[in-house]
Amino acid sequence: MENTQNAPVTEKKKISLSGIQPTGVMTLGNYIGAVRNWVKFQQEYDCIYMIANLHALTVRQDPAALKKSTIAAYALMLACGVDPERSIAFVQSQVPYHTELTWILNCYTQFGEMSRMTQFKDKSAKHADNINVGLFSYPVLMATDILLYQSDVVPVGDDQKQHLEVTRDIAERFNGIYGNVFTVPEAYIPPSGARIMSLVDPTKKMSKSDENPNAFVAVLDDKDTVIRKFKRAVTDSEAEIVYREGKDGINNLLTIYSAVTGKTIAEVEAEFAGKGYGDFKLAVGETVADHLRPAREKFNEYMADKAFLENAMRSGAERAAYIARKTMSKVNKKVGII
Ligand code: TRP
Repeated sequence: MENTQNAPVTEKKKISLSGIQPTGVMTLGNYIGAVRNWVKFQQEYDCIYMIANLHALTVRQDPAALKKSTIAAYALMLACGVDPERSIAFVQSQVPYHTELTWILNCYTQFGEMSRMTQFKDKSAKHADNINVGLFSYPVLMATDILLYQSDVVPVGDDQKQHLEVTRDIAERFNGIYGNVFTVPEAYIPPSGARIMSLVDPTKKMSKSDENPNAFVAVLDDKDTVIRKFKRAVTDSEAEIVYREGKDGINNLLTIYSAVTGKTIAEVEAEFAGKGYGDFKLAVGETVADHLRPAREKFNEYMADKAFLENAMRSGAERAAYIARKTMSKVNKKVGII
């Protein structure tokens, strides 16, 4: 038997990859459901995080605004705690292998399986005047993002589960034909707090594209705004702060408070037993605002330092490209592309 007692730790860490679109604002839902885990994952995995600006093109964008929001999203990702030295943090379009591999994987993806994607159906209904082929093939670009880096684990919100399943299908299909080219990734859906609901209609997911800005809290909202939105949060006509079927509004506030404080739902129920909804909403609002403040401050710092951001983006893209290039040349070789 090998003596491993004093051997250096050479075991390779697993790779975790995730991405977020740069459009709109990052909501508390995105933060609790996804980005917060990205930060935690840095301890356990080799992490790769990406601003998915190519995905954003599936909906018509104003060019100047897209460019600006891509940089802002990158800065916010770092402000939330993604460390650009420890992890690879980059902008999708700065690594051209994403578009290159997407074309190839398009040819290994079936029309039928893309037609079944619920997000495609939802978005087609919402943008009936622009149901473009990119929107249809969106999950293939996402599969590319994941497979290019031989990712093991992909932390995502609940709504991306179906896209992860299709990614696995594509990887398995490709591997079935050509041998082991891609690592087949696992989705990581956080156990609690994956689904933060709208503050206006707590039966709906909190969404940045909600027309009513009171429906979501943005990570960059200031303290007064956060508190105001929680004060207005829709609850019910009872007066009991307990997690129970049918109490969607209160359940949501309990989930948020629990996610932000790390306390269990039972502990939070005990903390607010006998208190009124008004007190509870204020407490949630203040706690969330305090929790988000450091990210907001860091964001402002980074946005004022363009040289830092440009450098981080360039070095992130170079490190990403180094890995992506290897997968790409393997794929090209397998399928016979010169
Ligand atoms: N489609 C994801 C979303 O809208 C964003 C995304 C793009 C992504 N590429 C990814 C997430 C790769 C995980 C892995 O949330």
